[in-house]
Amino acid sequence: MGKDVIIACDFPSKEETLRFLDKFTGRQPFVKIGMELFYAEGPEIVKEIKARGCRIFLDLKLHDIPNTVERAMRSLAGLGVDMTNVHAAGGKKMMEAAVRGLTADDGTKPILIAVTQLTSTSQEMLNDELLIPANIKDVVASYAKNARDAGLDGVVCSPLEAGFVHETCGSGFLTVTPGIRFKDAAADDQTRITDPSGARSLGSDYIVVGRPITKAADPIAAYERCLRDFGVI
Ligand code: C5P
Repeated sequence: MGKDVIIACDFPSKEETLRFLDKFTGRQPFVKIGMELFYAEGPEIVKEIKARGCRIFLDLKLHDIPNTVERAMRSLAGLGVDMTNVHAAGGKKMMEAAVRGLTADDGTKPILIAVTQLTSTSQEMLNDELLIPANIKDVVASYAKNARDAGLDGVVCSPLEAGFVHETCGSGFLTVTPGIRFKDAAADDQTRITDPSGARSLGSDYIVVGRPITKAADPIAAYERCLRDFGVI
């Protein structure tokens, strides 16, 4: 399992997304579909990209009562997605329900990962606004352990946290890491970033790369550079 580059297809419409994917003739990249595209286009966009042979990480970050999450996950499993996620803040029972909903009759299931703390959450916000009186790193560790104990496969985290998560939850627990930039490029709005080869040495299992590929003059070359530097090819 693992060691691949996932392209974040953060486009507003099916047309733009497919125009982008059309450039990848003869290739089937692993793509991430987020809320923007899924809410605009519905499940059809997943089916359409899946029909092209691409693997799909459906990034909808479910967070609701266990019964609702279980049933929603059953719907998502029916779409044939390869990876999806929940908020660990929903608790162990919710995550266990998510695993049940995703698991097929033959016992197989897509990769299920958890968001521990959003990267937009600061220490101050955690303590003063959410009234969680703990260190954010301890919260990440505790939520990651809850995810592991609930039967999830890994977490979304910064590449800089990948080693720490592996130490806490075991080397087989997946780290899926956005915040990737080439050394010679702009950081955009990302702050705690590293390049694909840095993510590789830090132990990331999957890197999620958006703008460095989608906005590149030559997206195929940028994708191949990620694959090479991350050690996939
Ligand atoms: O364009 P860029 O490479 O920054 O895209 C990264 C992708 O990963 C985006 O889809 C963003 O929403 C997502 N993401 C993130 N940080 C997180 C979780 C998800 O950048 N903590």
